[in-house]
Amino acid sequence: MSSRIQSRTRIAIVGAGPAGLMLSHLLAQAGIDSVAVDVRGRREIEQTHRAGILEQDSVDLLVDTGVSDRVRSDGYQHDGIELAFGGGSHRIDFQGLVGAATQLYPQTDVFIDLADARQRDGGDVRFGVADVSVDDLTTDSPVLRFTDSAGTAHEIRADFLVGADGSRSLCRHEVPADRRSQYFREYPFAWFGILAEAPPSAPELIYNHSPRGFALISQRTETLQRMYFQCDPAENVDAWTDDRIWAELQSRVGANGYTLAEGPITGKSVLPFRSFVQEPMYYGRLVLAGDAAHTVPPTGAKGLNLALADVRVLAEELERALAANDSAPLATYSERALRRVWKAQHFSYWMTTMLHTLPEATPFDLRRQEGELAAVTGSTAGATFLAEAYTGWPQRK
Ligand code: DHB
Repeated sequence: MSSRIQSRTRIAIVGAGPAGLMLSHLLAQAGIDSVAVDVRGRREIEQTHRAGILEQDSVDLLVDTGVSDRVRSDGYQHDGIELAFGGGSHRIDFQGLVGAATQLYPQTDVFIDLADARQRDGGDVRFGVADVSVDDLTTDSPVLRFTDSAGTAHEIRADFLVGADGSRSLCRHEVPADRRSQYFREYPFAWFGILAEAPPSAPELIYNHSPRGFALISQRTETLQRMYFQCDPAENVDAWTDDRIWAELQSRVGANGYTLAEGPITGKSVLPFRSFVQEPMYYGRLVLAGDAAHTVPPTGAKGLNLALADVRVLAEELERALAANDSAPLATYSERALRRVWKAQHFSYWMTTMLHTLPEATPFDLRRQEGELAAVTGSTAGATFLAEAYTGWPQRK
């Protein structure tokens, strides 16, 4: 075997998406060296469309730790959402109910801000690597191996390894089956997502229940909109012309009194739906964060927010683990993170099942969902529960 360049760092991070980059940024602020690697190129990650809603705590984390305040200047504050069903629309007033708001700011921009901040601060981030593997997880000196984008093989020893390598995590599979539990749920639908060059159709996001299925009217800018509609997981995007997409969306939201401003559709994709958790979120000196440990269905936009909440706790616990040269804080991290993860699992599942139509739905099922939506929107207690979860449970609680 050809020789590898050997080096050492404190924390080696697999995955340089928002979770991995935010972690390495927080560690750097605590004076802790790390290396983050990703098999994807930076451009590739920048071009992957994801959700666009940040909880207040996520915004504060970006601004207060000096990543960027672009989220404040370029994002749009949303003080509520519309829940449309049963022929009308009902606002959930986040400010009035829980004194909080969300920020519309795409995940791709969060990634760009973090990648720029790491570059600005001299962080060690290597995109476009190959042949990633981790080893010696139950020793004091776990190892990360990879080949960099120039073809040079590396072996980096660290005090701890972090798997922040997304829903198709390789690190997750390093945990022996008898040392972890996995929880899954599949859903019999997906989202058809579009980007459209059009003005916004409403001031705030519309979560739209209809007999034809769910639709979500989101936004990006004054001239670009993001929308989704429930579809079959096997749906072929090429079968959908702009006219067909607009007709489907208009008919779903039209049932509740909305008309969408149309325009050229510049992006189309089908997004899978899954709930997944692997616990505990560590094994030996390997620790998992973000989608590597848990996936939520997209309704309610919790994925990125959960990943950022994970790494905020993880940075604290890694600091303790390094100071004591002890892996016990990893168990504490896992317990702290999982409390929020399961609340978010419930919220994402609840929003999904309340708003989507099952393929075999009966008229009873649809009317029952309308009853559920009426119970939520018609009660201060119900609406407050939704508002608190949507804007994000305050971090320290
Ligand atoms: C967006 C995505 C979501 O899943 C959601 O609940 C709200 C907004 C978005 O991409 O804008």
